[in-house]
Amino acid sequence: MSTVAAPEIPNMPLGTASSEEPLERAKPAGTVDGKIAIITGASRGIGRAIALRLAQNGAKILLVARNEGALASVAEEITSVGGTPKAWAADLREAAAPAAAVSAAIEAFGALDIVVNNAGATKRGDFLELTDADWLDGFALKFFGAVRLVRAAWPHLVRRRGSVLNIIGIGGRTPGAEFTIGGSVNGAGLSFTKALADIGIRDGVQVNAINPGWVRTDRLRALLQSTADQLGGDMQAAAEQVVRRSNIVRLGEPEDVANLATFILSAEGRLLQGSLIDLDGGQTKTL
Ligand SMILES: NC(=O)c1ccc[n+]([C@@H]2O[C@H](COP(=O)([O-])OP(=O)(O)OC[C@H]3O[C@@H](n4cnc5c(N)ncnc54)[C@H](OP(=O)(O)O)[C@@H]3O)[C@@H](O)[C@H]2O)c1
Repeated sequence: MSTVAAPEIPNMPLGTASSEEPLERAKPAGTVDGKIAIITGASRGIGRAIALRLAQNGAKILLVARNEGALASVAEEITSVGGTPKAWAADLREAAAPAAAVSAAIEAFGALDIVVNNAGATKRGDFLELTDADWLDGFALKFFGAVRLVRAAWPHLVRRRGSVLNIIGIGGRTPGAEFTIGGSVNGAGLSFTKALADIGIRDGVQVNAINPGWVRTDRLRALLQSTADQLGGDMQAAAEQVVRRSNIVRLGEPEDVANLATFILSAEGRLLQGSLIDLDGGQTKTL
């Protein structure tokens, strides 16, 4: 690992808040005003919601995914709410793509404060039918894509006392038969988050993860569809069945993840370090 000079940490008496502003003059909770973020998988679902929410709170965003048209329409949405986006189409399974995304962010905005590793797609199914190619593909995007992006971004994040947020998934804590690749990739992502958070304490970079449970995105819609097919095509009944069987308060929405992400990445969330936060409506029962 290349060594980077540790940033100066303000000399602050023990027991004081980290914000230099008195409480009454502090900015409203959740502000990421003026920060510059890379968000992967930003063309739809959870990544799109995080991009919109951070942009509404004043961040400039490099949106990364493969589909140029979908990225352009998210960029348009962000511009229409007064935000500053730049779309960057890339396949993050390619080894050089993450570093190129970092260069694009620096070229567009001049610095980098936040990396949100969200892009992910792993194949489900019978373990005995999944091939080497399926496994390599799953790790190439969500695990190595994140490792490479963070490695390229780290010196910039150190300079600005920035943040990494990994969107992982509760399957990393509670593996299951149908999700061998996804569970393994997520388990590796959780371990990576903890290790990186340890380095982040030394280098002044905040590192955390959110583990979503069931979140209503295209990916979940496809899963719900197969349940709905057994219930006469009734998607509402399929959703209710998932809620009942998982014993959760409700399905999550992408905005639920975006709200938590914004809090973690704002000044108010700064004490969180190495936290792996389950956002799953109560599904995960592990301590
Ligand atoms: N939804 C859930 O219930 C749930 C639960 C637990 C964890 N998660 C995790 O949350 C993250 C987001 O999930 P989601 O449901 O929002 O997924 P989604 O709707 O399927 O969106 C995935 C995003 O990743 C991008 N992407 C896919 N392959 C890519 C590649 N090779 N290179 C660059 N970008 C790529 C997609 O855009 P392109 O196709 O245009 O590239 C899209 O923007 C994933 O890591 C997922 O594992 C989701």
